[in-house]
Amino acid sequence: MGNLTAHAGISSVWFLPGPDSPYGRRMSQTYEFVVVANRLPVAAETAEDGTITWVRSPGGLVSALEPTLRREPAVWVGWSGRYAPDPYSTGDLGVELEPLPDGVGPCPLVEIELTREEMEGYYEGFSTSTLWPLYHDAIATPVYHRHQWEPYVAVNRRFAEQVAEIAAHGATVWVHDHQLQLVPGMLRERRPDLRIGFFLHIPFPPVELFLQLPWRKEIVQGLLGSDLIGFHTPGGAENFLAVTRRLLDVETDLDSVTVADLSPAGGKRRVGVGAFPISIATGEYEAIARTAEVQDEAASIRAKIGNPKHVLLGVDRLDYTKGIDVRLKAYVELLEDGSIQPGEAVFVQIATPSRENVEDYQKLRDDIELMVGRALGDHGVLGAPPIQYLHQPFTREELVAFYAAADVMLVTPYRDGMNLVAKEYVASRIHDDGALVLSEFTGAAVELDGSFLVNPYDADGVKQAIRDAMAADPEDLRRRMTRMRAQVENHDVDAWAKSFLDALEAPQ
Ligand code: ADP
Ligand code: F6P
Repeated sequence: MGNLTAHAGISSVWFLPGPDSPYGRRMSQTYEFVVVANRLPVAAETAEDGTITWVRSPGGLVSALEPTLRREPAVWVGWSGRYAPDPYSTGDLGVELEPLPDGVGPCPLVEIELTREEMEGYYEGFSTSTLWPLYHDAIATPVYHRHQWEPYVAVNRRFAEQVAEIAAHGATVWVHDHQLQLVPGMLRERRPDLRIGFFLHIPFPPVELFLQLPWRKEIVQGLLGSDLIGFHTPGGAENFLAVTRRLLDVETDLDSVTVADLSPAGGKRRVGVGAFPISIATGEYEAIARTAEVQDEAASIRAKIGNPKHVLLGVDRLDYTKGIDVRLKAYVELLEDGSIQPGEAVFVQIATPSRENVEDYQKLRDDIELMVGRALGDHGVLGAPPIQYLHQPFTREELVAFYAAADVMLVTPYRDGMNLVAKEYVASRIHDDGALVLSEFTGAAVELDGSFLVNPYDADGVKQAIRDAMAADPEDLRRRMTRMRAQVENHDVDAWAKSFLDALEAPQ
C-alpha cells in the first residue's frame, strides 16, 4: 500500500497544524476503556445511488458486546463496512470518507478506514479463508497465502497504532477475535502501560491443526502481548496452552503463560489464559418474548405457514460451519421415510447473508438453495410447502417471534465457538416449552444440558434426535427447558463481560 494510503484519516480524530510536524499535529481525545474489533457495531449499506443506511452488523460478537457497551462507557474501534478510496485506483489523494454520523452506535465509534484491496487480503483472505476454516476443524480447506498474510499484518498494525493513539495512560483495551490476533503484541510494544485483554469468539484448534499455519509463532506471540486471553471453553484454553508450550520456550501452568517483559521495566510478565463462555442479554430476550406483540406475531407466523403440528426452526449466518445442510438432509429423509407425514411439520430456515464476496460462501449458498429447491420439488404439497427458506436479516423482535413460534430449534454446527442462537431460543421460551436439538461441537453444548445433543456427522443420530424432540413428553420438555433457562438467566452477557474484565483488572 505504501505511504499513499496513510492519508486515510480516522473519522472521529481531528488534525491541527502544529509546530512539531510539517504535516500538522494529530490531536485526539483519549479513552479509559477501548473495545477493538474488526467490525464496528453498525455497518454501512450503500445503495446503488450511493445513499448510505446504517444497519446493525451481523454476528454474535456484536450481539454480545452491544448490551455491555450500553452500560460501560467505552469507545469502539473497527471497520464500518464501507471502503476507503484507494489512491492507486482513483488517482485522487484528496478524497476521504464522510465522517460517521453522530449517534449511530451504542458508544463513540472510531473508524479504521480500509480500502477494498486491504479488505480482500486481511479480511476475506487471511481472516476468512485461512484462520476461519483452520480454527473450525478445517471443515473447508484453509489456504496459506503470503500475499494475504502481509495485509493481515499491516491492518493489525493500523489497528494497534490507532488504539495506541486514543487510549488514555493505563487504560483498559479489549481486543476481539481472530481478525486481530497480532494487535495485543503490537500494542504492547507501543504502549506497555495499557491493560490488554483479548477474547477469541471462535474455537481455538488442537495443536495438530494449528501447526499447519506457516505464521503460527507470530500469531501466538501476538496473542501473548495480552494480560489475559479468553476462550469460550476450557478446551480452547487448553489447546492454546499446548500450542504455546510446543512453539515457544516459555513457562506455562494451568491458567497462565510466563513471558519475558519487553518493557523498560524488564523481568517477567504473566499472561492469564482461561475460559469465559459468552452469553446473551437474557433479560432483554425474555422481556421481548413477553410482549403481546411478539406472542401475537408468533401465532401469526404459525398461521401463515398453515398451523402445522410441529414448527422446526434454524437461524444462522449462511456459513458452512453451521451445518445447515446437516439438518436439511435429516429433515428431507424424515419426510421420505414417512417419520414426518405430509402437512404435519414445516421447517423454517432463516439464513442471514454473510461474507458474500468469498467463494466458499457463494458456493455454500448455491448448495443450500439447491437442496431447498429439490426438497420442495420432491416433497412440496400445493399451498403447504414443508420448508420455508428466508435469506434475509431480521430485527431482534422478529427473530424472537420466530423463536416463540418454533416447537423444535435445530442448531447443528460442525463446529461453533459458542452459538448464541441456541441461548436466544432458550431465553425466548417463556412458557418453558419447546425442544433444542444441539450439536455437541458447539460451545453452548457445554452449558445447555437439557438439549437433545447430536453429533452432526452422524446422519441417523440427527434424524433420531429430531424424532425424539418432536415426540417428547411435554413434562420432559418442561424439565429440560427450565434447566436451560436457569442456566442462561444465571450466566448472561453482563456476567460474561464482568467476569472477563474483573479477571483482566485483577493483579497478575
Ligand atoms: P455467529 O457469531 O457465528 O454469527 P452466533 O449464533 O453466535 O453465530 O450469533 C449470531 C447472532 O446473529 C445472533 O445474535 C442472532 O440473533 C443474530 N442473527 C442470526 N440471524 C439473523 C438474522 N437473519 N437477522 C438478524 N440477526 C440474526
Ligand atoms: O463470531 C465470529 C465472527 O467472526 C465475529 O467476529 C462476527 O461476529 C461474526 O463471526 C460474523 O462475521 P463477519 O464479521 O465476518 O461477518
